Amino acid sequence: MSFDRKIKIAPSILSADFANFGAECEAIEDQGADWVHVDVMDGHFVPNITFGPAMCAAIRPHIQGVMDVHLMISPVDPYIDAFAQAGADVITAHVEAGPHIHRTLQAIRAAGAKAGVALNPGTPANVIEPLLDMVDLVCVMTVNPGFGGQKFLDMTDKIRTLREMIGDRPVHIEIDGGVDPSTAPLVARAGADVLVAGSAVFKGGSVTNPQVYGDNIRTIREAAEGVYA
Ligand code: DX5
Ligand code: ZN
Repeated sequence: MSFDRKIKIAPSILSADFANFGAECEAIEDQGADWVHVDVMDGHFVPNITFGPAMCAAIRPHIQGVMDVHLMISPVDPYIDAFAQAGADVITAHVEAGPHIHRTLQAIRAAGAKAGVALNPGTPANVIEPLLDMVDLVCVMTVNPGFGGQKFLDMTDKIRTLREMIGDRPVHIEIDGGVDPSTAPLVARAGADVLVAGSAVFKGGSVTNPQVYGDNIRTIREAAEGVYA
């Protein structure tokens, strides 16, 4: 995984057909997705349950690019090796998920994955300042985690602060929640480079009508890139 700050679209398979994850991953990659975002929820850290390491291992052969695993679970540490062995390229843990985020991030890198740290909407940017040299990605939640299809919360001030704090470090800023063609330019302008989008990518399409995914991905990307035009 090489580093750059180009806009990357990361469809969240939380909005895919749960009976057909392999084909859905192939369809979104064929249609221009840069990363595949996998939302892991435990019914404890967030009020919803999705899937675990076995599901990640099952879809891994259907993903050619980056498998971006967002852990909305607590505790995190007992499961890091399992997600790394399942083939996660990036493993992101929430700073709110436990008292020892520093140890968690060390463990993610030690397991051979890129380390991400996620911040809930109520968590300020400065909390992660001491961690910036041990992360590869900061995920700014623009909804309260747990469900797809929620309304975008404006975190542009936080994104701007993080962008400044990160400076020249090779650290991605990822935005997760409510990203669509109208909100993508706001977050791109503030300094984000990885845009997670669930409902805005999958809406109207299917594995038998995948061009819609391609149109949706293109529209979000162009809206975000338009910022620099
Ligand atoms: C929310 C998840 C998101 C979610 C985004 O807890 O982390 O990845 O699927 O979905 P949309 O794009 O529909 O807001
Ligand atoms: Zn997510």
